[in-house]
Amino acid sequence: MRRMVAGTLLWLAAAGAHATQTLDVLHWWTSLSERQAANSLAGALATEQLAWRDAAIPGGAGVGAFKVLKSRVLSGHAPDVAQLIGPTIGDWAQLGLLLELDDVADDQDWQDRFFPTIWKLSRYSQHVVAVPVGIHRINNLYYRPEVFAEFGLLPPRNWAEFERVAAQLQRAGITPLAQSGEPWQVATLFETLLLSETGPAFYRRLFRLRDPADWQDIRVRRALERLRSLKRWMPQPVAQRSWDEMARGFARGDAAMWVMGDWARGELNSLGLEVDRHFGCTTVPGTAGMHLYSVDTFAMLSGGYVKLRQQEAFARLAASVPVQLAYNRIKGSVPVRRDIDPAQLDPCSRQSWQTFGRGDAVQAPSIVHRMATDEAMKDAIIAQVYRYFSEDQIPAPEVQRRLAAISRALK
Ligand code: GAL
Repeated sequence: MRRMVAGTLLWLAAAGAHATQTLDVLHWWTSLSERQAANSLAGALATEQLAWRDAAIPGGAGVGAFKVLKSRVLSGHAPDVAQLIGPTIGDWAQLGLLLELDDVADDQDWQDRFFPTIWKLSRYSQHVVAVPVGIHRINNLYYRPEVFAEFGLLPPRNWAEFERVAAQLQRAGITPLAQSGEPWQVATLFETLLLSETGPAFYRRLFRLRDPADWQDIRVRRALERLRSLKRWMPQPVAQRSWDEMARGFARGDAAMWVMGDWARGELNSLGLEVDRHFGCTTVPGTAGMHLYSVDTFAMLSGGYVKLRQQEAFARLAASVPVQLAYNRIKGSVPVRRDIDPAQLDPCSRQSWQTFGRGDAVQAPSIVHRMATDEAMKDAIIAQVYRYFSEDQIPAPEVQRRLAAISRALK
């Protein structure tokens, strides 16, 4: 009997020692490039004998992952690390669920090394509660240079040019603009149009002041109307396809242009396409010099502090210069640090990184990707925009009234 107890204890100790070497990581990176990017982080952990136990939940923009995370936390099976992004990190921190990473941040001087917006996004109530890994830009227009060359076209800089280019392509039997009907993808296109109509100052004001009357502004109406008018350049009917399926379609030549966050660039690279050779990147018309961003961050669930050392190691590694460069090169995003050498980035990434570096005046937080507002308002905007996009008889002012009412109710 005594021997059995001792044996059991030994086994428990061994299991415990083993468990503390593993980090259970919940995220939503399931496409080819996302997997490769996650593997590059896992590879960095492995150099310190830490194993990344994968808990990937499919669904672009984290639509499913957030629900799973909530239910895991509620049922007492929280992961050790979770892809939690945007200001809602604060809600989790407020509940006391997140580990404070102040020691790592001090050691590595995050405050000086990171862009100010990034530093702000990583903190709650004077404490660092998340490690940022990369900055995505969303107002990108990807195009196929060989098609543009064939018809003597230039990438459009404004909407008048866009219309001319699209009409010419359509006349030649080419689908001008790729688009999926998934609600978050429709709303991701919409937010780029909103930025194009309003500019960063008014766009940010919509979420900073939360003044319901702002939703009734003529610029919001124009953005909605632009969204609807773009439908005629899209494949008909606009099918609901995941964004990585869209990337494969674009790579095959299904359409000449595509508006998508730069995770698409990561995916196109992973599919073997090179920027400037097989595809070109520019900004959505009317948004040159602006940066509609989504920042990927990981938070550590405190869970009794049993994995504190390992979680701190994760944060330290993920924020380091070599890991940031290697990971972001695959992911399509750019480092969150100001002290990297931009010569190491490809031309699209360099543009993104340099533009983001100009600060508040050019930055706009993504609605769909959780940077601008809380979950309830984000979900309401996605639902309203999607409904408007799918049902042609709904007038734009009706959507504006609804958004104003929702924003009043949630204020
Ligand atoms: C974003 C996220 C990116 C990318 C994209 C598609 O919210 O920031 O890392 O994965 O969703 O799922």
